[in-house]
Amino acid sequence: MTAYLEKLFGLSGRTAVVTGGSSGIGRAMALALGGAGARVVLVARREAPMAEVVAELRAEGCEAGAISADLGDREAVRAVIEQTLAGYGAPDILVNSAGINLRPPLSELTDDVWDRTLAANLTAPFQLGQAFGPVMAERGWGRIINVVSQQAFRAYGNSGAYGAAKAGLVGLTRSQAEAWSRHGVTCNAIAPGVVHTPLTEAVFSDPGKVAAHVARTLIGRNGLPEDFAGCAVFLASDAGQAVTGQTLFVDGGYSAT
Ligand SMILES: NC(=O)c1ccc[n+]([C@@H]2O[C@H](COP(=O)([O-])OP(=O)(O)OC[C@H]3O[C@@H](n4cnc5c(N)ncnc54)[C@H](OP(=O)(O)O)[C@@H]3O)[C@@H](O)[C@H]2O)c1
Repeated sequence: MTAYLEKLFGLSGRTAVVTGGSSGIGRAMALALGGAGARVVLVARREAPMAEVVAELRAEGCEAGAISADLGDREAVRAVIEQTLAGYGAPDILVNSAGINLRPPLSELTDDVWDRTLAANLTAPFQLGQAFGPVMAERGWGRIINVVSQQAFRAYGNSGAYGAAKAGLVGLTRSQAEAWSRHGVTCNAIAPGVVHTPLTEAVFSDPGKVAAHVARTLIGRNGLPEDFAGCAVFLASDAGQAVTGQTLFVDGGYSAT
């Protein structure tokens, strides 16, 4: 990196916690933040996929670690916070990418699916933000990046509890921005389009649905996890210091039509 790019985008000396960093969009963001110089701590349930990403990061010379936890459980999230503080200190960058989408038609949506969806997709980012946001503010520098969805803004694909949780996360992002931006902590959301990851296997196993989604983009293709590398580094770095409270659509123009 040239000295100019290092000053704008470099993350040396920063620590990033990336939930969902073992797969899909979160993995791509974790690798990007590590590549820009940050120490990266992954949080997800399964240890083996996290170990693979930690190995990828270390192979590139990055410092990396992992914490295994079910973010759908408030007690487990509290334990993640304690383990993070004990092992790494409060992070400079928090990326909330872990998410689930169970997609029952709304008439069949049970209390259980509602509770599980809200817990993992909205309550966990809230708890992590509450733990780390004030410390970032005290230090005078921090970044919170919440991965939301177009379904926070529009209904498609049985949005149900998922769309409601993501709309809540957009609102939470604005509240966090209002609370902490004056203290150097920018808080933004990223809204992907339709991205091929384990989360969307059902969509991508249906060629008709894949083509229909492609047709709604302006770039003529669905999303790739790599699409999220540059925007994560931008929002996490000094380059993004005046961008806060926003939702950045990284969707190939899907939402522009
Ligand atoms: N793919 C898309 O088209 C798309 C579109 C819009 C928004 N998004 C959003 O983008 C984010 C990433 O999605 P993705 O497509 O990259 O999905 P993905 O490949 O399925 O990755 C999800 C990640 O979250 C972790 N996770 C899920 N539930 C968890 C829990 N209860 N506790 C801890 N970790 C948990 C998973 O690891 P474990 O399973 O090991 O826990 C995995 O690391 C999500 O917030 C999703 O809603 C995706």
